[in-house]
Amino acid sequence: MIYFDNAATTLRKPQCVKKAVYEALDTMGNPSRGAHKPSLDASRLVYDTRVRLGELLGISDPSEIAFTLNATDALNMAVNIAVNKGEHVITTECEHNSVLRPLYASGAELTVIKADDIGNINYDDIEKSIRENTKAVFINHASNVTGNVTDIERISEITRKYNLLLVVDAAQTAGHIPISAEALGVDILCFTGHKALMAPQGTGGIYVRKGIDIRPMRTGGSGIHSFDKKHPSAMPEALEAGTLNCHGITGLNAALQYIEKTGIENIYEREKALSRRFIDGIANIKGIKIYGDINAQTRVPVVTVNIDGMTSDELCDRLYTEYGICTRAGAHCAPLMHKALGTDKIGAVRFSFSHFNSENETDEGIRALRGLAEI
Ligand code: ALA
Repeated sequence: MIYFDNAATTLRKPQCVKKAVYEALDTMGNPSRGAHKPSLDASRLVYDTRVRLGELLGISDPSEIAFTLNATDALNMAVNIAVNKGEHVITTECEHNSVLRPLYASGAELTVIKADDIGNINYDDIEKSIRENTKAVFINHASNVTGNVTDIERISEITRKYNLLLVVDAAQTAGHIPISAEALGVDILCFTGHKALMAPQGTGGIYVRKGIDIRPMRTGGSGIHSFDKKHPSAMPEALEAGTLNCHGITGLNAALQYIEKTGIENIYEREKALSRRFIDGIANIKGIKIYGDINAQTRVPVVTVNIDGMTSDELCDRLYTEYGICTRAGAHCAPLMHKALGTDKIGAVRFSFSHFNSENETDEGIRALRGLAEI
């Protein structure tokens, strides 16, 4: 089997992640809930993981990062914090349903910036859409469909100029591309652990800049201020009701150490080289259409394609049954992006790479597409 569905979840995790999770099941107590070794070890591990995340994401105060279940969980919290009914919010056609659906449900007035047929937005459209009651801009750092990367710095110039909140969905970039959240003026950053960060599923997080009022989405046990009727309003406890997934966070900690040791730049360069090799290998195959801004310098390792005369479901099935290649078909939970690309009826097939993939596997992917396109 060849696994090219890493944008959905990375299947191959570093050995140290598996070992850490296995050992954590025997050793980790409930963090911030006790004074015995298993609980203190868990508290230290959780704190150390916040510090490592802060280093990777450009956040100097680790207490501004709360752990969540995944990016969707974090984005629901972000909408709950940043948006009130009747306020105006700007977002884009590049977004995932993890942003769109909470925004639709929020009762906010929405402007959705159009994407062109290679999935890029015009940044000037954001500034042109600002109204008196505009509160925030919600944008992903990279599209899970096209792999196009957003220029957050450019958007931050606009949000700072008009004093708007900048909320960034880094589900597809955290672990691929270093992020300088504070320096870029990001107010809220949401990420997941199970994709490029190579941690177990059920891990993720949210950074909320100091000074933003937190509205907890869930309340309950926090390990502190037990006699208060109200849930704590300070980060990180404000967004961490109940016992954390410390076993998963132990895996995330190990994954972060692996990324530090390997070097995020080295990981990214390898992923970029593999996806470039793949694009170059399929570019001239008759009947293949590749979506996205494939010649951009900065991209995440996502290559999405179709073959003339085939639905994405059929192509994806045949890749798996005839070649043992795992990809993702359909709409990738990003309906507006597919409308912009013109693939809303047939979907598209996404190949997404990990640095653990090999050149041979990449060439096998090219060979499979050639075989299926030329029949
Ligand atoms: N959001 C994930 C994807 O793009 C699941 O596949």
